[in-house]
Parts: sequence; C-alpha cells; structure tokens
Amino acid sequence: MTAHQLFQPFRLKSLELKNRIVMAPMTRSFSPGGTPTPQVAEYYARRAEGEVGLIVSEGTVVKRPASSNDADIPCFYGEKPLLGWKAVIDKVHANGGVMAPQLWHMGVVAPKNSRGLPPAPFEGPSGYVAPGKIGGVAMTEHDIADTIRAFAQAAAEARTLGFDAVEIHGAHGYLIDQFFWHPTNQRTDAYGGKTLAERTRFAADLIRAVRQAVGPGFPICLRISQWKLQDYAAKLATTPAEMETWLAPLVQAGVDIFHCSQRRFWEPEFTGSDLNFAGWAKKLTGKPTITVGAIGLSGDFLAAFQGEASTPSSLDELLRRFDRGDFDLVAVGRALLADEGWARKINEGRSAELRGFSKEALATLS
Ligand SMILES: Cc1cc2nc3c(=O)[nH]c(=O)nc-3n(C[C@H](O)[C@H](O)[C@H](O)COP(=O)(O)O)c2cc1C
Repeated sequence: MTAHQLFQPFRLKSLELKNRIVMAPMTRSFSPGGTPTPQVAEYYARRAEGEVGLIVSEGTVVKRPASSNDADIPCFYGEKPLLGWKAVIDKVHANGGVMAPQLWHMGVVAPKNSRGLPPAPFEGPSGYVAPGKIGGVAMTEHDIADTIRAFAQAAAEARTLGFDAVEIHGAHGYLIDQFFWHPTNQRTDAYGGKTLAERTRFAADLIRAVRQAVGPGFPICLRISQWKLQDYAAKLATTPAEMETWLAPLVQAGVDIFHCSQRRFWEPEFTGSDLNFAGWAKKLTGKPTITVGAIGLSGDFLAAFQGEASTPSSLDELLRRFDRGDFDLVAVGRALLADEGWARKINEGRSAELRGFSKEALATLS
C-alpha cells in the first residue's frame, strides 16, 4: 500500500501542513474538571511525532453554563483549562505538529451522569433533544447572542495560545446542528424557518463573529454532517441544490474548510453520482474539504462502540477519490486513536504493521 499523494504539503492562509492526514476530533474524557492534563498533552504530542499533518482536538466546550454534560471533557475557557491547552499546543509544536481545537457546545443532550450535570438546564433552539422529545430549554435571543460571543471568545483564545486554526463543531446533532435540523429547530424567529437556508442563520452569525475575533488570515474549519446521533439516516440537504443553500451563507460568513463527517467515506451523498459528502461540499463551494469515516478500517465507528472490532483495510478507494480531487484532506479517527504511528506507517508503506481498533482502546490515553 503506497499513498505518497497523501504526503504532499497543504497550504491555506497561515496554515502549513506537511501532509494531508488529519487526526479526527475524538472525545476522550480524560480532563478532570475540564482541564487537559500533562497526559493529554503527551497523547496529542505523540500523534504529532507520528507525522499527523493536522491534529484536531477532541471537542472542547465554550463558556455557557450548560455547554457540556461531562465534567471530564475539557473546557476552552477559564484560567486552568487554558493553561492546560497552552501546554498541549506547546508540546505539539515542539514535536513538529500543527493543531486546531474543536470548539463545541452540546446543545440539548441527555445527562451523562449526575456528576456531569451542568448548573443550568441544557439549552437548544427549541428545547428538543430529538424529534418530539423535550430535554432542555429553548434559547432566548440573549442566550443566542451570548453563545455566539462564547465561540468568538474561545476562537480568539485559541489564536492567542498559539493554535494554528480552529474547528467549529457543527455536526452530529449537537447545538449548531440542532439549529440546522428542522425537528430540533421549531423556532418562529429569525433563527428558525421552514428552509435549511433560514435555519443556517445561527451558524452563519456564529462564524461571522469567530471570523471577526480571529482576523482574516486565520483558518476556520467547520465540521458538518447530515447524520445525527439522534438519527443516523437523517439528511439536512436532500439535493445538491439544497446543500448549496446551506453552505453558501457559511462560506460568505468566513468558513475556509468544510470538515464533512460521514460514517463511511465511500458512500455517495446523492443519487446519480458517486461523490461523497466532502466531494459535494468542495464542488458546490470551491472550498477545501476534509473527508472522514472508516478510513483504513473495516467497520464504522458506531459499530465499534457496539463492540465490533475493526481490522486494517486498503486505502485504494480513498486514494481513487483523492486523486480525482474530491477532497483535500483525510481525517482518521480510531486508527489514530489505536496507533499513534499510523500516519508514519502509511508513509513508509509498513502496512503489515498497521493495527486494528477495538473499543478497549478507549479505556486509556495511550
Ligand atoms: C471515541 C470517539 C470520540 C469522538 N468524539 C468526537 C468529537 O468530540 N467531535 C466530533 O466531531 N466527532 C467525534 N467523533 C467522531 C470522529 O471524529 C470520526 O468522525 C469518526 O470516528 C469516524 O472516523 P473513524 O471511522 O476514522 O473513526 C468521535 C469518535 C470516536 C471514536
């Protein structure tokens, strides 16, 4: 297995990557009280050492009373957490890596456990955690404005700390995606509406504020998905034309890169073409895109959570699409979680040494 084309540099604004491999954001819950520990810094630094081009951190939450349901998930605000993140980026840089934090607000979610209960109710566009199911409160216009400020503030902190870019988590049924999705966004004000374009207003306002906070030259990546944890088969955009009405205002607001989350990268997004989600996002916006979803592994990550082990698999189909120019970067989750040296092994053609993934790997931060 040779994949030399993935080892070409990538440049965008101030971002300079030595190759096209991205570590996908993966929540690890090893940051007690919201502060990344020295072990967290070493975990990321090992992936930098292992030749990952761009590391995207686990989701790290912005400053809202109920942005998280887990006290072991890192915060991206407050003196101690930010000192923890400073140690992370310094170590990653010392090992030749490049990194973006993934900024996150969970929106309305189920409580994880009583220890993780926030001091305020979970909040979202209309209080829905899933179609027809209330799990929190509807945000007021004041809550929305404060949330947008919190994302902008966190992005500014990321830049000040020395991170190389920011990623905004707009996927998987969390807050920003709850605004995109009609079943969870039943608002009748300017943040709701019958069309996906209307429901994109919150994300567009948020990106605009982030852009203003980081300046024109600092890369902003937005992670999006059609699927949601609440409904794997959900589709926000059912046609390319609808997808364009969704993404165009986000480009206008300042998105530089779309990180297009799929569970299986080889699945076509719409009938009549084999382009995947990242392929369509690139075609419709002209912006660079990241693809993801079971790259280098036999099974997808939700199956893995149910205990199905994944074994290493060929990159041929990925490379076929990459060579065609469908996307610019490829994000790898579990394969990099299980094996810090995955990227280097791919670069050196050491495919016999690649490891599979089983959910036991989640128990430690190795
Ligand atoms: C343990 C774990 C935690 C994850 N946490 C996040 C997260 O915080 N933010 C996010 O956008 N995606 C998260 N994901 C999804 C991954 O970023 C990725 O999209 C998914 O695992 C598919 O890639 P893979 O098949 O290479 O693992 C997580 C996945 C795993 C396995």
